[in-house]
Amino acid sequence: MMLISEPNAVFSLTAGITGCSADKSIKTYGEAQNFFAAVDLKLDLSTIMYEVYRTINTESGSKPDLMWGLTVLYPITVNNEFNMTRGHFHQDDTKSEVYYGVEGEGLLLLMDKKGTTWAEKVFPGSVHLIDGQHGHRLVNTSGNQALKVIACWSKHAGYDYQYVEEHPFGFRIFAGIDGLDIRRNVVL
Ligand SMILES: [Fe+2]
Repeated sequence: MMLISEPNAVFSLTAGITGCSADKSIKTYGEAQNFFAAVDLKLDLSTIMYEVYRTINTESGSKPDLMWGLTVLYPITVNNEFNMTRGHFHQDDTKSEVYYGVEGEGLLLLMDKKGTTWAEKVFPGSVHLIDGQHGHRLVNTSGNQALKVIACWSKHAGYDYQYVEEHPFGFRIFAGIDGLDIRRNVVL
C-alpha cells in the first residue's frame, strides 16, 4: 500500500497558512512604531499592522531546508506614511529568497550594504528574486486593500534586523495627493 498523507500545511487567501506545521505571528503598531518617520497618536498601539504565517521546520539538519510563508500587510498609514514590514538582511547572505505577490499593491524596497535603495512593484502575480546580499522590506501602497505576499526562503538564511535599524532604507513612501510621495529618508 502506498502511504497518502495530508500536506504539511494549507494555504488560503482568507485563512493564511494553517495545519500542523504552520505558525502565525502578529506585529502591532506598538511594536512597529519606530519603523516610521514619526509617531501617530491617532493609531491605537494594539492596531495589527501585519501578520506573518509560515511553515515551521524545526528538525535540525532536516531536509528540505526551505520555509514557506505569507505576509498580510494591512492598509494603514502612519502620519500618511504607508504601512511596511520591519525589513531585514539575511545573516547568511548566500541564502536568497523568492517573493510572490498574491493580492493588493505595493513596493518591495531593496537595499545593498552601501545604502543604495531601489524598489520593485508588487501586484498579484509579481515574482521577486531577492539576492541574499540585499535588505528587503514590503510597503503596502494600495490604500484600501491588504498586501499579501508569499515568500520562500532557506531556514538557514537567518534575520539581521539590527543592520537595518543602524543603516535604514534610503527612502520612505508616503501617500501623496495624486500618487506616491517618495521621500529620501533623513537619518538623524
Ligand atoms: Fe528575508
